Amino acid sequence: MNELDALVDGARAAFAQATTPADLENAKAQYIGKSGRITELMKGMVALSVDEKKTRGAAINVAKQAIEAALAGRRQALADAELQVQLRAEALDVTLPGRQRGQGGLHPVSLTLERIEAIFGSMGFEVAEGPEIESDWFNFTALNTPEDHPARSMHDTFYVEGGSAKAPNLLRTHTSPMQIRHAVQHVKRHRAGIDKGAGMPEIRVIAPGRTYRVDSDATHSPMFHQCEGLWIGENVSFKDLKVVFTDFCRTFFESDDLVLRFRPSFFPFTEPSAEIDIQFQSGPLAGRWLEVAGSGQVHPNVVRNMGLDPERYIGFAFGMGPDRLTMLRYGVNDLRLFFDGDIRFLSQFR
Ligand code: PHE
Repeated sequence: MNELDALVDGARAAFAQATTPADLENAKAQYIGKSGRITELMKGMVALSVDEKKTRGAAINVAKQAIEAALAGRRQALADAELQVQLRAEALDVTLPGRQRGQGGLHPVSLTLERIEAIFGSMGFEVAEGPEIESDWFNFTALNTPEDHPARSMHDTFYVEGGSAKAPNLLRTHTSPMQIRHAVQHVKRHRAGIDKGAGMPEIRVIAPGRTYRVDSDATHSPMFHQCEGLWIGENVSFKDLKVVFTDFCRTFFESDDLVLRFRPSFFPFTEPSAEIDIQFQSGPLAGRWLEVAGSGQVHPNVVRNMGLDPERYIGFAFGMGPDRLTMLRYGVNDLRLFFDGDIRFLSQFR
């Protein structure tokens, strides 16, 4: 093999070894750069005769063209390879399932509250909402629970800024303040009629919402839900409470063989007072008494604080625990699951 053929072979091998454009340019410089091998061979021709220059020059040119062709070929190959890598990196696998929009759903306690509102709505109850930051007056005093009343210690209250030392603000410990707030508004709206002796349309309302107590374990959370119920009129009795609440429970749990027990109890704002227990006659919870609400006939002092004459107006109130009802309905055994925000738990209720 002559010297020039060997040179071309050497260039081809060097170019083939270059795996990046930068490597390739370095290899090129060694052969056809300013001080590359071809240039040196050209310079070496000065001593030759004109004829020799012709043949030698032509041969060197052939070699140079071969090297340039090899260079161009390798450049193209490297560019193609780079493109392939890029295409592969950016490839879309059209056979993969598309990204779906997550499907949301209501929180199980919200589902319960909607149910409660629908059932009581069908019995003619309005739905009222009230503030979670409440005054001492609405939460306790107006509900027949004066300042030094021992019943205040039944609730472990979160006090918050605002209000006065004598009448501090607090996070409502129950939804019962809505009895007063709603009744006062209702009475104001119908005052003219009451004064003329025309009587007042009955107060029939439920007030669902968040409530707060210093308490935390598997069945207590510092934030929990309650739903208040209130029915006041000229002729509303404990019997009506029993009928309404029994109807509610049987509809809520979709079960007719469900019995209720009104167990004597104490609340400052009702007299007499009763805890309401329910018992399923069949199913996984059968045979156990389960407490679901506090209730009672509204105390005359509370009726007075509503702006009504307790000699004329009478009725009942109850306060139930939607969290508890949700646990019973779905068989959930730890209240904290409702408030952990774990999507694996929550998505089961969609
Ligand atoms: N507010 C009471 C509680 O939180 C429940 C209740 C409401 C009792 C209405 C009687 C009447 O425990």
